[in-house]
Amino acid sequence: MYNKLQKVSDILEKYNQKHLIQFYDELDDNQKEALLNQILSINFQEIFDLYDASMLPENFSLNDLSPLEHIEKSNFPEEEIRFYSNIGENLIKQNSFAVVTMAGGQGTRLGYKGPKGTYKLDLKPEKKSLFQIMCEDIKMANSMYDVTIPWYIMTSTENDEQTKRFFEENNYWGYPKKAIKFFTQGKLPIITVDKKLILQELYLVKEASNGNGNVFESMKKHEILDELESKNIKWVSFGGIDNVLLKNVDTFFLGLAINNNYCIASKSIFKEKPLEKTAVYCRKYGKPSILDYDDINIGLSVKRDSNGNYLYREANMLSHLMNIDAIKKVSDVNLRYHRAYKKNSFINEEGMKQVPDDPNTFKFENFIFDAFSYFDDMLLLRVNANEEFAPIKDFTGIYNPDTAKEKYEKFYTT
Ligand code: UTP
Repeated sequence: MYNKLQKVSDILEKYNQKHLIQFYDELDDNQKEALLNQILSINFQEIFDLYDASMLPENFSLNDLSPLEHIEKSNFPEEEIRFYSNIGENLIKQNSFAVVTMAGGQGTRLGYKGPKGTYKLDLKPEKKSLFQIMCEDIKMANSMYDVTIPWYIMTSTENDEQTKRFFEENNYWGYPKKAIKFFTQGKLPIITVDKKLILQELYLVKEASNGNGNVFESMKKHEILDELESKNIKWVSFGGIDNVLLKNVDTFFLGLAINNNYCIASKSIFKEKPLEKTAVYCRKYGKPSILDYDDINIGLSVKRDSNGNYLYREANMLSHLMNIDAIKKVSDVNLRYHRAYKKNSFINEEGMKQVPDDPNTFKFENFIFDAFSYFDDMLLLRVNANEEFAPIKDFTGIYNPDTAKEKYEKFYTT
């Protein structure tokens, strides 16, 4: 143990992180061992490199951007909707479709204790958790198409256990248990603005999930990709856990992508307010991409084509389709990391847990949409936000539980 301690101490000295073993002497033997092992498993250089790189502005000019063409669901006549839906339906009936739910986020803005998917929306006649809502959505498709869609749920090391327990306690809401598989995503240490890693407990360095874009690497690592292939799955839908109107199984969207020979597809909603803090689709260096709201200026936001259509107003709503070849391709690439500024509690110098009121730490995250730039083209389908977009992000902003509930109830009662 002593040698290990010395080794850890040298590493921490080198990276100026000695505070991580400040309470070492107060720990019991198991905790000491756990802390030393955890520190030895951390790649400090990687974190500081990510930190430094994230301080540099992304180097592109407006000339590198062009719009990504989109089509609008509302422009399709009924018979075309039926035509494409049939194509999607056939694929589902052949048992060639799976759903992935990305539920590994920390949900720091909501600040709810427990995985976000366990948060219950106050619906009538009964409260329903986000997981139940998602489950019922997929179950409905199962009964419509007489199949059992394999459902993969990405968790984090922070919320995996609680998530699985929640499913068990709720008897999987009647979903065939064998058709659900959980897999954990990767993690990285959290770091303060002053380049300090933090302690979550006296014996535990705070690490958190490394973004929803880690889904591909994690699917490969946990042999989900192999399983998809062995099950002859051809298309997968990817969505978050917090949009209560998310259509996990959309035959029209699927048929449209298949019939037009796309290998990736996303849904967008129209960004009503030009400077709203949402990322929009674009092309960067000719490839499908997303423009973060920090990079959007008013000029870009109000730019229109000759027909008067806005060019950069298709907002990302985290609803994507990818075929198996596309997933395999991006499971081999290293997506870049973005820096997110988030609220994380920490152990202060007195050894007390402190809960900050405002964001205090950087988290490094892969974003799923960065995978799209590995392709030349993609389908972008604008849908109606009132029908498909009701996320829960926090309690006070526009995406709060009340607005989500209102939209959900309105959609399902009309
Ligand atoms: P958000 O970007 O809204 O993040 O995730 P979040 O972690 O839920 O919440 P905040 O930002 O800390 O408040 C969008 C979707 O991506 C998933 C989330 O679970 C959610 O479904 N996600 C996010 C992951 O699966 N893993 C991550 O590392 C981050």
